[in-house]
Amino acid sequence: MSEPITTWSEAITGDEESRLEGLATRLAELQAKRDRGKKVERGLHIKQHGGVRARLEIAADVPKTHAHGLFAKPGTHEAFVRFSNGSARDQHDKQPDLRGFALKVLEVEGPKSLGDAKTQDFLLIDEDTLPFRSPEEFVTLLESAENVATLPFKLVGKLGFRAFGLIGGVAKFKGNRGSVLDLTYHSVAPFCVGPYAGRLHLVPLHQGSPHAKAMPERDYLKHELAPRVAAGGLSYGVDLQLLGTGDSVEDVTLSWKGPSVRVAKLTLLADDPRTPEGQRLDALVHEMSFDPWHTLVTHRPLGLSMRARKHAYFKSTQARRAASEPDVAAWKSFG
Ligand code: HEM
Repeated sequence: MSEPITTWSEAITGDEESRLEGLATRLAELQAKRDRGKKVERGLHIKQHGGVRARLEIAADVPKTHAHGLFAKPGTHEAFVRFSNGSARDQHDKQPDLRGFALKVLEVEGPKSLGDAKTQDFLLIDEDTLPFRSPEEFVTLLESAENVATLPFKLVGKLGFRAFGLIGGVAKFKGNRGSVLDLTYHSVAPFCVGPYAGRLHLVPLHQGSPHAKAMPERDYLKHELAPRVAAGGLSYGVDLQLLGTGDSVEDVTLSWKGPSVRVAKLTLLADDPRTPEGQRLDALVHEMSFDPWHTLVTHRPLGLSMRARKHAYFKSTQARRAASEPDVAAWKSFG
């Protein structure tokens, strides 16, 4: 079994900052073009299925290797969660797409990578790896996907033969993934865990719903989520996987070999999204900014895709005038 190692390193090239700023500008242009004349929304993950409150309980028996930053000592934190589709378009839920799980943990003390709010964010999707070898490939795909009919031609024009590998990788993003409450989510990209590097996985601890199939209704995921959140009993194991020999901090196309260790439990609160208070909560979460760089320095994001995200999320949240970081009073203002 691969043991956690501390000898990882990032591969940062001299011109990287300007390259990544250029990519973020290209994404921001897509966002501006999409929303011209309308309210500006997120550059990606535009469609929200639910904004909910949660409680995170850090376990008392976290191994020494994993017990850094947020996971250093047992305790409970209030949190917000946003469930989303990955696409930049607000489309029918049955369309092929990723699902997103954005977690904002409150009252986390310690020096921050960005700003000084006491929030710690983790952003996860329901895939363990991504098919993009670089953020350039990702942004080029998004640009080409503006018109699905011409996508393959545009992508081959821009990336040559590599386009076929990328199209094959994206083709696995199937539409009917079931309820967003019942999926396993992965941070994909790594972050520091003290001297180690780690990735996070969220594993449902509740029974999945047998009824969460694709339905004719456009927003069926939101309507499936609401009564189940209101009924309560939804929770996730929070598993931390540390990088071992042979794993990469830079390459998000590869999964890691080492075991994941349960470090916490996340429980969704039984707020009812269908009530006026639930809708106020949903609207508050919609305006929030979830960003992997809202983090303790101890959990600094690692690797090229994380460095690219620093530029991209900043531009996207600026353009849509996202809310400033919430505090625990906002969390407690709901019932
Ligand atoms: C590598 C793994 C990645 C994961 C797991 C991930 C996950 C997510 C999630 C869950 C959201 C929704 C956040 C919310 O609910 O507010 C999001 C938003 C977003 N992502 Fe990513 N993402 C990844 C990579 C990237 C990359 C490489 C880029 C661009 C270079 C990118 C650009 C964005 C943008 C612009 C948003 C919208 C930000 C906002 O306005 O709030 N993501 N991502």
